[in-house]
Amino acid sequence: MFWQSAYASTVGLPQSSTIAPTVDILYDFLVYLSVFFLILVTVVMVYFTVKYHRSKTGRETAYIVGSHTLETIWTVVPLVLMLFVFAWGLKGYREMRAPMKDPVEINIIGRQWLWNIEYTNGRKTLNELVLPKGKPVRLIMTSEDVLHSFFIPNFRIKQDVVPGRFTTLSFIATQPGVHIVFCAEYCGTAHSDMLAKAVVVEPEEFDEWTRTGKLPAHVNLNQIIGAVGAPTSVAAATGNGSSQPSQTPAERGKALAASKGCIACHSDNGTRMVGPSYKGIFGKKEEMADGTMVTVDENYIRKSLMDPNAQIVKGYTPSMPPFAGLLKDEEVNDLIAYIKSLK
Ligand code: CUA
Repeated sequence: MFWQSAYASTVGLPQSSTIAPTVDILYDFLVYLSVFFLILVTVVMVYFTVKYHRSKTGRETAYIVGSHTLETIWTVVPLVLMLFVFAWGLKGYREMRAPMKDPVEINIIGRQWLWNIEYTNGRKTLNELVLPKGKPVRLIMTSEDVLHSFFIPNFRIKQDVVPGRFTTLSFIATQPGVHIVFCAEYCGTAHSDMLAKAVVVEPEEFDEWTRTGKLPAHVNLNQIIGAVGAPTSVAAATGNGSSQPSQTPAERGKALAASKGCIACHSDNGTRMVGPSYKGIFGKKEEMADGTMVTVDENYIRKSLMDPNAQIVKGYTPSMPPFAGLLKDEEVNDLIAYIKSLK
């Protein structure tokens, strides 16, 4: 790592993703800046206390009306510092949010008080996020009930998980081993037990795991990296050999599109019917009836299912019934996976 964070190594946080050093260097800067001003203010305060203490002989207080020079200094210096920190933070944030090339996409549904995780081939786990080392990963997350927050301290990534919409996290894990995952948004009685483990393995081992559900023998799920005082007893279960996925989410989505009647109006081969065809639509920029441009992503599809008339693609008439309350979060994920598969 090009930057070994003084702060992070003090609290025992390894840098286990590509973004971690970027976060740490800014955080260290904030800590050192605060220490500098703490010392500065303390020294001046002590000096003034001594210099202007009450005198036995008596002393006349000077009459000071103000100082434009001083006021300018204490306004401009913090302003410049704050803007500098803002620009630096924004740069890191944009780096974090930039789309990555060909990420491994993983669906996560948070609910009181566990994480349901599903991979594109249909492999499901509970509270156990298996990840390939050195490969871009994109988590597509939603919540079934209340606000949660998916937080992997070793990776320096954290994202709110919100009912009724999708939020995402993109990152590259760099350190093999087991990392603790916290829910970082108070979500009720068992919030503090809403734990998961991120298990980083070599890419070949990851492929093997997605196929068979078997983690390599050297992985010890109770050995958590760098987590000072973190609980090791996470209620976790991988989709192991016994629960081999029978269908992928895309396959389930296809069946669902048929059984819910979607295919009456949406074709899978590019043919224009009552509604736009599913084929090739994912990721496309579409013009809406009101002239705005919208990228067809996970959130747009969810919105189109729940409230179809809100954003109609130009040239189509609003004629679809809303599916709010009629589709489970898993089913929404399946339909999206199906639409994604129709490239
Ligand atoms: Cu989920 Cu706190």
